[in-house]
Amino acid sequence: MENVILIGFMGCGKSTVGLRLSYRLRRTIVDTDKEIEKEEKRTISDIFATDGEAYFRNLETDCLRKLNDSAGNQIISVGGGLPVREENRALLHELGQVFYLRAEGETIYERVKDDTTRPLLQVEDPLTRIKTLIEERDPYYRAAADVVITVEGKSFSQILDEIEEHVNEREGNNLTEG
Ligand code: S3P
Repeated sequence: MENVILIGFMGCGKSTVGLRLSYRLRRTIVDTDKEIEKEEKRTISDIFATDGEAYFRNLETDCLRKLNDSAGNQIISVGGGLPVREENRALLHELGQVFYLRAEGETIYERVKDDTTRPLLQVEDPLTRIKTLIEERDPYYRAAADVVITVEGKSFSQILDEIEEHVNEREGNNLTEG
């Protein structure tokens, strides 16, 4: 069986949705940021500070290639900037069904404003940065996605229901009565 992949901007809920989805669908969850931190034995912030963003982006592609060689039937949550690279979008597509969790800039800001672990948002005006990056990335997220899920105003269980419905549809698990 193929994987379920969650993409979207930082703070859109990929990790939380991914974790809950893994319980619901009884599949293990992989997070590219966590895989990279494990492999490198240092945090994303350290990687950015020491080796820069370009180095980190190459690690993301390496991580996706490895997942393509190994993973199946998992939930895969990926870093917010990963789908920007064309090669990564192709790799995501091969990995499985891709869901773009879409949230507004203000919502993202409220969720991440006190977080110091995301190097790209350690700027004077994070809200403007967030809005600019979302505008830039939205076309890439859409290009990578099989399904766009607007998370705005929805509970986690509503989001999970929507995802599950699409997964079942794709995998032909639709149960009929009788
Ligand atoms: C990034 C998002 C982060 C992490 C890194 C860069 C981005 O992941 O990969 O800080 O470019 O949007 P999350 O989306 O899981 O926060």
